[in-house]
This record gives sequence, C-alpha cells and structure tokens, in this order.
Amino acid sequence: MSQRAHDAVAAGYNSGSGIIADKNREVAAKLGERLRLRTGPLAVADLGVGDGAMLAQLAALGLPLVMTGLDVSPAMLKLAAARIPLKTVHAPAQRAREVLPAAAFDAVLAHFILAYVDRRTLLEQARGLLAPGGVLSLVTTTEEGGGPFFEGLDRFFLQSRNPLKRAIGRVCQRAIAQSHVPESFASLEAEIHAAGLVVLRRDTMRQHITFDDAAAAYRFGIEEGWAANFLAMPGVPVRAAQAIARWGTRQATYPFSFTHVIEMLEIGVAAPAEGAD
Ligand SMILES: C[S@@+](CC[C@H](N)C(=O)[O-])C[C@H]1O[C@@H](n2cnc3c(N)ncnc32)[C@H](O)[C@@H]1O
Repeated sequence: MSQRAHDAVAAGYNSGSGIIADKNREVAAKLGERLRLRTGPLAVADLGVGDGAMLAQLAALGLPLVMTGLDVSPAMLKLAAARIPLKTVHAPAQRAREVLPAAAFDAVLAHFILAYVDRRTLLEQARGLLAPGGVLSLVTTTEEGGGPFFEGLDRFFLQSRNPLKRAIGRVCQRAIAQSHVPESFASLEAEIHAAGLVVLRRDTMRQHITFDDAAAAYRFGIEEGWAANFLAMPGVPVRAAQAIARWGTRQATYPFSFTHVIEMLEIGVAAPAEGAD
C-alpha cells in the first residue's frame, strides 16, 4: 500500500487512548515478564513501529533495550525517533530479513500490520530475525466481531440505488480484500504452526466500539488509520480519498456499533519434531 496513505495516518495517529493504548499497556506488562528472564542488553525490532509508543512502554519497564523500528512511513519513523532512542529503518516488513541482521533479536514485534503484510511472509521474516529463545509478539484484529460492519457496508453502500455509494462500497470491498487480517485465531494458529512456530501465550481483547456520529467514524477509520487501506485508491490523491471517506461516513446511520476482537500472541520457534534431522 502507498507510503503516502501511512504518512497521512501519522498526522492523526492516536496511541494515547483507546485500542492502541490498551494494547500497549497489556502487551508490555506480559512481554516484559518474559523478557526479564533473559540477560544482557535485549535487542528488540518493531516491524511497523508506528509512533514508537509500544517500544516506549516496554522501555518504561526499565528493561535494557536496544531498539530498532522499521516502517514504510517516514512520517511514522519521525514520530518514533522523537519519542525514543532507536535505530530507524525505512523498509517494508516484507523485506525485513534483507535490512536487519538474522537471528539477532530477543523480541520481534509485529502489531496491527497484517492489514498490509501477507501473513506467511510476515511469519517467515520474523522467524528469521529471532535469536535462539527469542519471542515474536504478534498482535492483530481478526474478522470475528466484524459482522455489523460487513452488514453496514452492504446496507448503506453495496445495495444502494445511488451509484456513488455503490462505488464507495466496492472500494471498501477492494480494501478489505487486500487486507491479510486473519479470519480467526484458529486459522492464524494453523499458519503459525506451518511456519515452524508455536503460540506460547494468547490473550484476547474485545473492544466494543460505538460511533455516535459520522465524525467519530471518520476519526476512527481514516484519521486513526483503522481503514487506512481505503486511502490507497489507485490514481486517487490521498486528500481526495479522505474527502470521499468523509462523505461516505455521513451516509450511514448512527449510533453504529461493532466489536474489535484483538489477538495478542507471544510466539516462539517450535522444537524440531523427534526423529527429525
Ligand atoms: C496500525 S499502525 C500500527 C503501529 C504500531 N505497530 C502500533 O501497534 O501502534 C500500522 C503501521 O504499519 C506501518 N506499515 C504499513 N505497511 C507496512 C509494511 N508493509 N511494512 C512495514 N510497516 C508497514 C504503517 O506505516 C504504520 O506505522
């Protein structure tokens, strides 16, 4: 997806409250316990580092971290560098192994980037970065709980008699089809195993979200980036896509509620099967 879309999201990214803040607090507390068991400086790479708030939360635990943040968005990397001392790497997570040292990281973080990065590729890249005994912290939404959203898309847009609304509906469908967010924990776990990895810890967070009006829907989807794929319409400048999204959010009826189901996983490399070479 276009770097410009992520740069635009950086301007309104909200890690101070809501889903990101809650997730950062929970993950840091649990991952911190695991990292405390390791000795010496701890190398941590955050793939899709965003504004660096997650690494800042981990660093606040007093762990001796040596931090690397990778992102496709220079604007996000700038926010992260202003927040914490870290090495920034401007690259897609799909190429992490080319730009970061192999088997070098005590922890690799990949939080909320499966909308943009193929799951199998991400798991392979992360696995190659992990030092022996290292942990991958993978956080993602799943499609569970998204029912009302898909019904709303159908009712307000795809079934509309207005051709502009139907066109917006198709853009949303395209954005959803481009996303690699898994259907469920079960489907993701099967892919984790296929990549030679194993889930060490699973916590599930359910966030009930209600938009009271169109402004709240726009803020969540576009400014905070939960529907960032929508901004990457081919040939459409980001500002025009934002204007279309602003108009589109006014076409639904409010209040509008749905549940974000968020899986917070700690993943390790699986032990070789007995009898394997
Ligand atoms: C929803 S934000 C999550 C940021 C952070 N991980 C967090 O949990 O707050 C997604 C981040 O992934 C970055 N991103 C999108 N596509 C990417 C890719 N292919 N490789 C690396 N980063 C990517 C975006 O620029 C953005 O910073």
